[in-house]
Amino acid sequence: MSKTTSNQMWGGRFAAGPDAIMEAINASISFDKRLAAQDIAGSRAHAAMLAATGIVSSSDAEAMREGLLTVLSEIEDGSFEYSTALEDIHMNVEARLKELIGEPAGRLHTGRSRNDQVATDFKLWVRDQLDASEAALITLLQACLAQAEAGADWVMPGFTHLQVAQPVTWGHHMMAYVEMFGRDLSRVRDARARLNECPLGAAALAGTSFQIDRDMTAKELGFDRPSANSLDAVSDRDFALEFLSAASICAMHLSRFAEELVIWSSAQFRFVTLSDRFSTGSSIMPQKKNPDAAELIRAKVGRIFGANVALMMVMKGLPLTYSKDMQEDKEQVFDAADNLMLALAAMEGMVRDMTANRDNLAAAAGSGFSTATDLADWLVRVLGLPFRDAHHVTGTLVAMADEAGCDLPDLTLAQMQSVHSDINDTIFDVLGVENSVASRVSYGGTAPAQVRSQVARWKEVLE
Ligand code: ARG
Repeated sequence: MSKTTSNQMWGGRFAAGPDAIMEAINASISFDKRLAAQDIAGSRAHAAMLAATGIVSSSDAEAMREGLLTVLSEIEDGSFEYSTALEDIHMNVEARLKELIGEPAGRLHTGRSRNDQVATDFKLWVRDQLDASEAALITLLQACLAQAEAGADWVMPGFTHLQVAQPVTWGHHMMAYVEMFGRDLSRVRDARARLNECPLGAAALAGTSFQIDRDMTAKELGFDRPSANSLDAVSDRDFALEFLSAASICAMHLSRFAEELVIWSSAQFRFVTLSDRFSTGSSIMPQKKNPDAAELIRAKVGRIFGANVALMMVMKGLPLTYSKDMQEDKEQVFDAADNLMLALAAMEGMVRDMTANRDNLAAAAGSGFSTATDLADWLVRVLGLPFRDAHHVTGTLVAMADEAGCDLPDLTLAQMQSVHSDINDTIFDVLGVENSVASRVSYGGTAPAQVRSQVARWKEVLE
């Protein structure tokens, strides 16, 4: 194993540099460079606070500010040279600052530690992701709303057990996803509100003897307040776990929708036609148009939920406060965030572009004895039968239709009367699928009028 003779970072205490394997397992710069902008924002706020409180001179703080801006521009234009020997983004930025401005750079770390620094940087990063997820969810919700509005009264089969159950409207089905993504939106907003306390100034774990102004840095970085317990501030990763949990549930919703799109776009269903922009062909079968985007969205929940579980496992046994284990938080969150954003964008594109095949939906809506419940309800309402008896009579009629190879509305009145003599021809009024959905006017039901009022409500909510 190779060894270097001096230690670039901990020269005072360490005579020897790290083993190459130590450097490899320890360094996080390969991934935490994604925190660069947040790290520099945190350092700028800290430097300004150190000057405002008289802990460093204003000329030193000005040098830090200028230097940090230069570092940021080097990172942005790609000229910044990252060093693995410097472990992480915090040390990389500070070392470059030292090269640029000399001695004042050494005063920047007064009254803080990498422990509160990384917690702050990571919170800022996750907060940006929550904001980006919020925006993406709103766009997706709008795409679902547009579908719902266009097809508020288009009939389609509703399913339980993937067996035809009762007719519903296309708009109602789309609005079910609006409810689901709407809850995702509120989870993202809740998580953001809880995240928004600033760890900076908790220092290593116990706070600091310098008279720092934590309110100032918290405000400068857009936090609502400083976190109230320094031990918790550096050991807490709930904000990352809340993001991953919200992302997992959202990804699960996306996956269920994706699964429906895969089924609906198949030759057996043909409920929807997905656009060419979100489909692929087959290299051997010329007729194929595959719903790859939907399939990949369906799969994303695996890695996102995996990240959630992985970070739970990392955190569950850790004593307070910071342990290096916690460095393993970032890659999980980065990967989950990247893939959630991709999945949200792809779903939004698919939903916006897809065509619901109204005729096929309507044809399927009438199949599978989907108005059997309407028939039973009619027997209760008009003939006064107890529902259990009505259920039995209807079951007999379904068996009769099944035997005859026809649908319920195709049975003759005489056939129906052979099962229950009081049945009259007004029963045919409730057997059509249009009648069926129009009658489901209870709040939250599938009637077009209900769907339209939910669309209107959501449009207002999203404004
Ligand atoms: N790279 C570290 C991380 O991501 C920064 C904090 C290091 N703190 C420490 N005490 N070693 O967790």
